[in-house]
Amino acid sequence: MINISQSILTVLLVFTFGNQHIYSQDNTKFLTIKNDESAPVISKHIYGHFAEHLGRCIYDGIYVGENSSIPNTNGVRNDIIDALKELKIPNLRWPGGCFADTYHWKDGIGPKEDRPAMVNRWWGGVTEDNSFGTHDFLNLCEVLGTEPYLAANVGSSTIQEFTEYLQYVGHKEGSPMADLRKQNGRSEPWKVTFWGVGNEMWGCGGNMTPEYYSNLYKQYATFMTDWTNSDGMFRIASGANTADYHWTEVLMRDIPKNLIEGVALHSYSFVKWENKGSATKFNEEQYFSTMQTVLKMEELVSKHSAIMDKYDPENKIALIVDEWGGWYDVEEGTNPGFLYQQNTMRDAMIAGTTLNIFNNHSKRVKMANLAQTVNVLQAVILTEGDKMILTPTYHVMKMYNVHQDAQLLPIIFDAPVYTYNSESLPAISASASKDKNGLVHISLVNIDSKKENKIEIDISNLYIKKISGTILTSKNLQDYNTFDNTEKIQPKDFKNFKVKKGILEIILPPFSVVMLEGK
Ligand code: AHR
Repeated sequence: MINISQSILTVLLVFTFGNQHIYSQDNTKFLTIKNDESAPVISKHIYGHFAEHLGRCIYDGIYVGENSSIPNTNGVRNDIIDALKELKIPNLRWPGGCFADTYHWKDGIGPKEDRPAMVNRWWGGVTEDNSFGTHDFLNLCEVLGTEPYLAANVGSSTIQEFTEYLQYVGHKEGSPMADLRKQNGRSEPWKVTFWGVGNEMWGCGGNMTPEYYSNLYKQYATFMTDWTNSDGMFRIASGANTADYHWTEVLMRDIPKNLIEGVALHSYSFVKWENKGSATKFNEEQYFSTMQTVLKMEELVSKHSAIMDKYDPENKIALIVDEWGGWYDVEEGTNPGFLYQQNTMRDAMIAGTTLNIFNNHSKRVKMANLAQTVNVLQAVILTEGDKMILTPTYHVMKMYNVHQDAQLLPIIFDAPVYTYNSESLPAISASASKDKNGLVHISLVNIDSKKENKIEIDISNLYIKKISGTILTSKNLQDYNTFDNTEKIQPKDFKNFKVKKGILEIILPPFSVVMLEGK
């Protein structure tokens, strides 16, 4: 859609900010928001998280044990519980990842002192004492008011072991596994709707072909029941690695619709897979490459969705991006198998841009899980002893939670470009929604490392009387919160907008995430 404003060259503004950036505003772009009542609802589950038995995510992260001097509830840090509640996390994936296909659930139940140990073969070869198991996880989900997303061990277990797990978790009473659960202190079953059938079956889950895995999947899915048949269970097939479209094609072709509710997809963002670089010390070239992989998500989701459309025109099977986020070299001096990395404004750009893509594809994308919750990869929380940091990614996820279960307002936008070394990317990404109370939210990300960008939005069809805004940005793209300065990057009020004759005009600073609320 072309607006007259697109053809008008706006005045070039040049000024300095914190001696860092040269701001130049060369052309204003027009963004159209459609008030389309047939648009899909943005599933709250797009805002899901992922906690694997990996490095310091569970142990010395979420779980410190009942005897810790750090205030805790049943061994889980109270500050983490509070922070995750604030975030309104809708679901939490556990226990992996690659760990899930090595995990034997019976090792993680019963008296902690009797639980057998194992070696975490994928993540640092450390000893796993199984002190955090199914009861600990499912009880935590209840405390958080979040839905659990459990995974079957397909790679190194049996259907028998898995069906017993389903019975242990979901059968009411009068069955061997319900009795065992009761013996371990829990009479009522838990409500677990989301079940993954293996993880990365093309890799750490068993290096399978999609044809082989589809057969295995059908076998597992046939024996899956939640034992209540209340609102059923949601079975998720282990999905493709980034652009492996053949994987999705085979799964969609070979698995009957009555055996599957979701197909997964994993895609991480990085500078180069073989040379990821530091999480905090990166140059513009590395930043630009990272953002290229981030924006690739648009193409990935579109192409995987197109394959799904072909086999499932009724849109019954969901695309579940159950691992996404930035992946860099580990922080110096930390265990390479623990994947501990800091989190800068670059990660805020990754989060805001990716969530906008998911929102805009909410017809097919019904769930996603940021990797990972605490101390691993693009974490929302980092801990050190009794200290805790909320990362820039945490703040973006919190700013965006207003989109959860709101109706998508589709956007038409010819974005300005961010150019580096003669290559260009769309500088601004956006998504919008209207919630149950009629509040309109518009999330905008300007990934340009130097330039502010001005956009105009016709809001006359949205019946908005008052607008307020929040912004997340910082002086440098490489800035991050530290254990000594936990508040360096914080959301602030945003006022750099005005409305004139039904047109909302916004100036977005370089590398900023903005959430506007209209009522
Ligand atoms: O999130 C870390 C790992 O990345 C997961 O265990 C695995 O599924 C993926 O390769």
